[in-house]
Amino acid sequence: MKSSLPHLSSLDVTGKTALVRLDLNVPMKAGRVVDDTRIRRILPTLQHLMERDAKVVILSHLGRPKGYDPGLSLAPLVDTLSAHLWDKPVKFAPDCIGNTARLAVENAANGDVVLLENVRFHAQEEAGDGDFAKALASLGDVFINDAFSCSHRAHASVAGIAAHLPSAAGFLLAEEVAALSKVLQSPARPLMAVVGGSKISTKLELLGNLTAKVDMLVIGGAMASTFLLALGHDVGGSLVEREMTATAKEILSAAKKNNCEILLPSDVVVARAFSPHAPCEIVPVDAVPNDAMILDIGPASLMRLYDAVKTARSMVWNGPLGAYETLPFDSATTQLARMVAAQSRAGLLHSVAGGGDTVAALAHAGLSAQLSYLSTAGGAFLEWLEGKELPGIAALMGTHAADRAYA
Ligand code: 3PG
Repeated sequence: MKSSLPHLSSLDVTGKTALVRLDLNVPMKAGRVVDDTRIRRILPTLQHLMERDAKVVILSHLGRPKGYDPGLSLAPLVDTLSAHLWDKPVKFAPDCIGNTARLAVENAANGDVVLLENVRFHAQEEAGDGDFAKALASLGDVFINDAFSCSHRAHASVAGIAAHLPSAAGFLLAEEVAALSKVLQSPARPLMAVVGGSKISTKLELLGNLTAKVDMLVIGGAMASTFLLALGHDVGGSLVEREMTATAKEILSAAKKNNCEILLPSDVVVARAFSPHAPCEIVPVDAVPNDAMILDIGPASLMRLYDAVKTARSMVWNGPLGAYETLPFDSATTQLARMVAAQSRAGLLHSVAGGGDTVAALAHAGLSAQLSYLSTAGGAFLEWLEGKELPGIAALMGTHAADRAYA
């Protein structure tokens, strides 16, 4: 068992065949990459390996295929990868295992980059099959996991290879773990969390873990309406989970016990239709009309959040405050993002955000690069915040839940 995450900079890779698990699960449209963020973020690891004359063999998944699915082939990524690698040609093997993969690796020279086909075309990948992991491991001399965003999956290529080869965390994975550890394990205080999204039921463990760790917890998105309902407010036609009101009350009392201040909206933006530019009004939370639904938090609530952000020294953010994809209900999320970005730029706040909707909302606000750290992970970010062990990282450390030195 290792006491800390083994790092690529301490792994001898010179002249070796380096098996690298990346997350090339990037948004594609008509065979073209539409957002290359995840590719750009893994370049330091690839560059490090290429500079040391390693033969770079890339493993990744794309989408959630059930068996072979030509629409989810990694082949269209060859050109994008090559363009990011200073036009270095990237070789492609149409299978990640067996003779096809073995020959592609054998025929490559040191310094070459070989992309193997989608690991999820084989059911053994998601099953975490030990023999499949061993067969993958046989393709390389060393293993590097630079896929933090898949490290919550106990899949063969994520969590099964490290047992067979000298292994390390790539630069992006190490950076993600450091950023997330800093904000949750040793944050400058007060530590504030912003959690949005539509359902309490999908964020129960998150809310439970955060109330024990943070000083202020902002609850936004549709889930705030369920909390308001639990507090006796009439929320009209808002999206709520009526069966979760008792749970919402439990979360509120757990927060009180832990001295965690919960910030719920005091005023909200309501509309009678959920459509772009639907006529809307701002009302206090105790005056939501019967036929209206809550779609964003109001200006008084936002001012209160500004004050909270000014006092906070660390922040973790997962989930938008309102229905940000439909204008103008993006307003509070965008304005909070501006405030968080300004405080972060000024060095007054260490801000960490992650999750698909949050990343999209920050991109929508044009502020993706202005928080202290933006995670590339969705599900893995959430599971980390929930306090769960991530199998891909545990495998690198050769350890399990009892000893999470990385957490
Ligand atoms: C992601 O996009 O969050 C990762 O690639 C994991 O994908 P998955 O949820 O299909 O495992």
